[in-house]
Amino acid sequence: MADKLRFNPEEYEIKTFEAGNVRVTCRAFEGVEYCAKPVNGIQKLNIYTPADYFEGGAINGYTLGTAPIFMPNTVGGYMQGPAMVPGIDRFNGQVNSALRALEHGYVVACAGIRGRNTGMKSDEFFVGGNAGAEDASELGELVGRAPALAVDMKAAIRYLRHNAGVIPGDAERIVTNGTSAGGALSAITGATGNHPDYRPYLEAIGAAEERDDIFAASCYCPIHNLENADAAYEWLFCGEDEYHRMKFVQTDRGVQRVADVGRMSDKQVALSKELKALFPAYLNGLNLKDEQGNPLTLDDAGEGSFKECVREAVIASAQRELDTLWAEKLRGLFVEGANVDRQAYLTIGDGRVVGLDWDGFVHAITRMKSTPAFDDLKLLSPECEEFGDGAVFARHFTEFAQRHTEVPAELADDQLVKLLNPVRYIGKADAAPHWRIRHGAYDRDTALAIPVILATMLKNHGIDVDFRLPWGLPHSGDYDLDELFAWIDGLCR
Ligand code: DHB
Repeated sequence: MADKLRFNPEEYEIKTFEAGNVRVTCRAFEGVEYCAKPVNGIQKLNIYTPADYFEGGAINGYTLGTAPIFMPNTVGGYMQGPAMVPGIDRFNGQVNSALRALEHGYVVACAGIRGRNTGMKSDEFFVGGNAGAEDASELGELVGRAPALAVDMKAAIRYLRHNAGVIPGDAERIVTNGTSAGGALSAITGATGNHPDYRPYLEAIGAAEERDDIFAASCYCPIHNLENADAAYEWLFCGEDEYHRMKFVQTDRGVQRVADVGRMSDKQVALSKELKALFPAYLNGLNLKDEQGNPLTLDDAGEGSFKECVREAVIASAQRELDTLWAEKLRGLFVEGANVDRQAYLTIGDGRVVGLDWDGFVHAITRMKSTPAFDDLKLLSPECEEFGDGAVFARHFTEFAQRHTEVPAELADDQLVKLLNPVRYIGKADAAPHWRIRHGAYDRDTALAIPVILATMLKNHGIDVDFRLPWGLPHSGDYDLDELFAWIDGLCR
């Protein structure tokens, strides 16, 4: 049988992509099937290579064979992420990472990734619990639920390796990049290299028999570690009973985002305390250490060296901002009123941040989600849907929510939950040796403890991690591509 997974280097179009003040001409290999038995049309790769490389040219010190392969994904909200095309980012309106990466001299490989809405009949925008479809027959065949996103990314990586030397770029310098659920995907990919748990799923879609570990993972605000995220959220926000979020409403001018401020019910306030109380045992079980090797722990009240470690990360963030005002100058993204020199909860003396009133900080960034933040008691969250499948639309993924459920519900198999949690694979798989993690200090989509755990655990396993909480930034990504590329170049050139 012919190898369906052979890349044909002659099947390309010359395309010029132009956006903002960036213009790049490249060989575009679009719509390449990266697995032999795809279940949905989204499972295709777009591969772009600067045309100069085929004339023997060099860009930023890279050539056709040595350029890193940058793999951005467009996954958000655990929904499917179509293969990126160089141009304008549909969320932030800036030149997207694919085009910027091409300009910088990287080979760009964009995999289309299945998500929780893959196979749904309705294309209608849907955020949490969905479409109001009561009858499963209205839904179409759901083929993108957990662990599909991880399986697809691995299959795409295997495809690149399978064709190493024929596909442009260096398949031993693959760098993934994503934001939020897409950041989680980047983290899962980085943490789970070659782990046999994914093998049956990879076989089912006809992925190439190759390694799927990567060189580096870039993760912006990864929404991961889902089964512990509810407890972490209450560890941070317990006592803050008001939620501040945006909601989507249908108006005569179409769907609009409007501010939605509300107060949690007495029941939610009580559940918040219960969930907060679960966090120390989880955290202590991780046996995390600081840079000096001291244990990072929490007592029953949630106080202790781990909290101090998160606090220090916030202080370091404030100090960098005070020194540079870098985030404040990021127009359109910086949270209004977050200017570092105007926060009553910060004590600043002689240009140094010398104090941080923790409760004041938490109050200022505000709670976004009511309790439980992820495993919704009515199954109306993206994450509950992610753990559903063709037979059961959404499931709980924590025993806590299953115990407190307000609707008839099933609990997802823990093995499935594990497949989506990078933290559970650190030290047990071929992790990427290099990580860059960014989570805005004002991001409340998940608790600050979550990225701190990921970064600390990786460091504790001797892995190179560049971790920051950029000041004043909300849930967002790709805002510092110059710095990201400088980091990649520092590792690759
Ligand atoms: C995303 C944001 C969330 O708050 C969440 O719970 C899941 C995903 C996202 O932006 O991808």
